[in-house]
Amino acid sequence: MMQRRVSNANESKTEAAAPARHLSVQSPQGKESTDNTDSDSVEEMPLDIGNNYLVRRADNKWHPAEIIQARFNETESMYEYYVHYEGLNRRLDEWVAKDRIMNSKFQLTDKEQVSVMSSEATIEDQSGRKVTRNQKRRHDEINHVQKTYEEMDPTTAALEKEHEAITKVKYIDRIQFGKYEIDTWYFSPYPEEYGKQSKLYICEFCLKYMKLEKTYRYHMSECTSRQPPGKEIYRKGPLSVFEVDGRDLKIYCQNLCLLAKLFLDHKTLYFDVEPFLFYILCDVDKHGAHLVGYFSKEKESPDGNNVACILTLPPFQRKGFGKLLIAFSYELSKREKLVGSPEKPLSDLGKLSYRSYWSWVLLEILRDFRGTLSIKDLSEMTSITQTDIISTLQAMNMVKYWKGQHVICVTPKLVDEHVRSNHYKRPRMLVDTSCMSWTPPYKQPPVKMAKK
Ligand code: ACO
Ligand code: ZN
Repeated sequence: MMQRRVSNANESKTEAAAPARHLSVQSPQGKESTDNTDSDSVEEMPLDIGNNYLVRRADNKWHPAEIIQARFNETESMYEYYVHYEGLNRRLDEWVAKDRIMNSKFQLTDKEQVSVMSSEATIEDQSGRKVTRNQKRRHDEINHVQKTYEEMDPTTAALEKEHEAITKVKYIDRIQFGKYEIDTWYFSPYPEEYGKQSKLYICEFCLKYMKLEKTYRYHMSECTSRQPPGKEIYRKGPLSVFEVDGRDLKIYCQNLCLLAKLFLDHKTLYFDVEPFLFYILCDVDKHGAHLVGYFSKEKESPDGNNVACILTLPPFQRKGFGKLLIAFSYELSKREKLVGSPEKPLSDLGKLSYRSYWSWVLLEILRDFRGTLSIKDLSEMTSITQTDIISTLQAMNMVKYWKGQHVICVTPKLVDEHVRSNHYKRPRMLVDTSCMSWTPPYKQPPVKMAKK
């Protein structure tokens, strides 16, 4: 079986992942250490958990980072450290060997921290040019700059701290999935005995997870599934979408959620899958229908969400599948005659993808339209909510607040400028609605009591 190692396209983690490969199998009772007391077999003293050091990232630049966890690598007879880089997305947290950590402790004062951060986070300092809030937001989004606790409202900050405490260390570094070995991004709550493995083997068809390569090989020779269970509701060329009901195929959907959590920071749906439908995008070849990505959707959403979680697996990212899935979710909403929005919070990559999709859809309508259009009209045409339309138009300076409401304010010249800018990127793949076989599920009308 061909193997390929895959890292996120522009965030190479190959170097970072290397030490983990020499590790003996980790176990909670093993030589891992979360404190400084484990001193029986080592000359070096472990570094202090919870403190800041300068750590060399894969691009060879030093970045302030907090040490979250230590573990002992028996083969190399040395400690490795799980670090979180200040100000960067937790996806980039990683296990590093001691030689990538600057020896003396690096205590950042508040002022220093700001200055280190701002070299990453703001553009005005470098070029001397003032930037608008929109440009700053876009820059932060593209560079995956995280909000600090101080920038969050108190409730969000408290929830965020709690979330981080629970999911601090990601033990599963990588997974074998079909022909790909994929570096993982975040913690996922696999059952204890699986959750502490550094590598997990997952059947790409039935999504069963296994600890041992041997078991996996045996399973692959026995497993009869070659496509997701459920109904194929879209087929164009090699691309298929299957609809899977969480009530009917509970284990499959739970396994999908556990797999997805390895790449999603904030989503918390793993076990209660019954109220959801799953739309699974596959690339079909003679060996079977290979899972590329999916989105989940509540059967009834009181908040008007048409997507709960959305994911493209890392080997397939940045090829247009994400926006294809987004477009597909809006096609479903159009057929339901509803508007919808993705569940919040959106991740950094989620924001980039949705913004790009919304801008393209709206510019596509505005560039060809002569006459007047309201935000409500746009919403009815696209199934995008008025709130999402307003925020997208605001980012392009195309909306004004007038007499208590938002109105579209564009000239052909302004539309044309945006069409030529990077707000307008024609998606690489579009949904061909003639290849969709889906009608909205029949919803029971509310029962009326018969009058006597
Ligand atoms: N860095 C910068 N830009 C990126 C990156 C990246 N790493 N990845 C995607 N983009 C941009 C692309 O350039 C593209 O924008 P453009 O067309 O304007 O150039 C846009 O995002 C979408 O690209 P696609 O190729 O269509 O999307 P992709 O298949 O990569 O999937 C997705 C996007 C689903 C968000 C993917 O990154 C992913 O699965 N991320 C991990 C899970 C996640 O964050 N999901 C969203 C959470 S929010 C929610 O679930 C409601
Ligand atoms: Zn299987």
